[in-house]
Amino acid sequence: MNFKKELAAVLFELLDQEITAAELELMIEKPKNATHGDLAFPCFTLAKVKRKSPNLIAQELSGKIQAPIFEKVEVVGAYLNIFLNKKLVSEQLVNSIFEQKGHFADLEFGAGGHVTIDMSSPNIAKPFSMGHLRSTVIGNSIALITEKCGYKAIKINHLGDWGTQFGKLITAYKLWGDAEKVKQNPIKELLALYIKFHEVAEADPSLEDQGRSWFKRLEDGDEEALSLWQWFRDESLKEFSRIYELMNVEFDSYAGEAFYNDKMDRIVKLLEEKQLLIESDQAQVVELTEEQLPPCLIKKSDGATLYATRDLAAALYRKENYDFVQSLYVVGHEQSLHFKQLIAVLGKMGYEWAEKMVHVPFGMMLKDGKKMSTRKGKVVLLEEVLNESIAMARHNIEEKNPNLANKDVVAKQVGVGAVIFHDLKNNRMNDIEFSLEEMLRFEGETGPYVQYTFARACSILRKANWQADSQPKTYPNSWDKEWKVASLLMEFAPAVKRACDNYDPSQVAKYIVDLAQAFNKYYAEVKVLEESMEKQARLALVYSVTVVLKEGLRLLGIEAPEEM
Ligand code: ARG
Repeated sequence: MNFKKELAAVLFELLDQEITAAELELMIEKPKNATHGDLAFPCFTLAKVKRKSPNLIAQELSGKIQAPIFEKVEVVGAYLNIFLNKKLVSEQLVNSIFEQKGHFADLEFGAGGHVTIDMSSPNIAKPFSMGHLRSTVIGNSIALITEKCGYKAIKINHLGDWGTQFGKLITAYKLWGDAEKVKQNPIKELLALYIKFHEVAEADPSLEDQGRSWFKRLEDGDEEALSLWQWFRDESLKEFSRIYELMNVEFDSYAGEAFYNDKMDRIVKLLEEKQLLIESDQAQVVELTEEQLPPCLIKKSDGATLYATRDLAAALYRKENYDFVQSLYVVGHEQSLHFKQLIAVLGKMGYEWAEKMVHVPFGMMLKDGKKMSTRKGKVVLLEEVLNESIAMARHNIEEKNPNLANKDVVAKQVGVGAVIFHDLKNNRMNDIEFSLEEMLRFEGETGPYVQYTFARACSILRKANWQADSQPKTYPNSWDKEWKVASLLMEFAPAVKRACDNYDPSQVAKYIVDLAQAFNKYYAEVKVLEESMEKQARLALVYSVTVVLKEGLRLLGIEAPEEM
């Protein structure tokens, strides 16, 4: 179903096989303006190869491009504008969607290669922040998109579950903690203890010593310290799991920072062997002067290891354990320097695969133009946000469709979908303004709008008693009115490919908004349900749209209710 490929193959033969078909395919464009045809081929590169004027080449080629699917070829300057045969192409598209259903636009270029995706990665005993939400949503969608492209995605939750803060937390818990309260409300209680520690420590610095000594006990494997740590970790994870469940996100691994405790000596040894470790201010660092980066801190003066040391161990572990072809880190752009250093150090160690590591950064979530903070009083608990969104969706349903069955299920699908879509619809580097009202609108570029369009298309099919296996036997002569929608169906696979290549789910989000808009416009203009010669074919097109909208939403991690 790749017409660029077909055109490239025709050109390849015409040009005496001088330029590969793959190269030719890359030159083919899609005209911005539909009146200029469906495909455009600029002849500038050929002109250089053939030493002829591009306009002349365009003239010469135009008469020779002949295949049933190419209806008309026009020459405009150095461009060939090619018009597809609407009837043939539409019918091929609809037929392949019938056959492939959700597998329509599956791509194979990933060839089974493993892609590890470091995503979500919240910190134990701290609230799940908006940054962690973004990482979860973006990472999950990238995983789904890479899988559609033939890769195997491995989702890793690199929990922040180790560090000096646990010494402080244990100290505070021993002094003021209440086990029942922690069980009931782990994150809130643990955060309160942590805050209290800092308040009291300001007046009484001996507390810091106690914190250090508890952390030392933890590092030395002291039983009491370890069991408290384990308990904080378990309780926090239980709370995070509720959020993951709401969002339908699962992980392949929860190997967090603590997992690498016994794997860092090896890294330090390797760095020593390769003579990369240098003493600086009593700490051990790797100099990155050539790379024009500040030195990467490996070990502090007291021997304590750092965030970077753990990430070095983690990178090596992932390579050895998962043999990745790409290793992604979906982490906010504040950590760009950290990942640059990480990749540079591994490169210096001689690991070629360091080039396959990619930091996939994203912008901030803003509220009234300011960063949303999780500190002190301004805690924005994500679960509250999701629940509020679900409640608002539920309220909307009550107003618009009070007789709907499974209102609760649909409210969850719409409420959660709205939050996810709002996050994914823009390029991930953009900051996003947080607004529940905006997310839940039924018009404009929102999750509910796309879901609603899907549900509407489903209801048309229900009214017509349409069966997904009743592929039309005859097709109408003209697909002119259908062409805008049909030609968009053709764009799904390229949108998926762009999203995968650029780690950018917004390509898929924008695409399904375009398709939904085109479909709604079509439906307003054409009486699909009216008896006519075209009825079966039109229904087939409506069905095709439902398949692609549902699959597009799925790639974003959003469900598609058939009624709402
Ligand atoms: N826990 C960290 C934070 O909340 C994010 C960890 C990202 N992943 C990594 N491998 N460093 O900032």
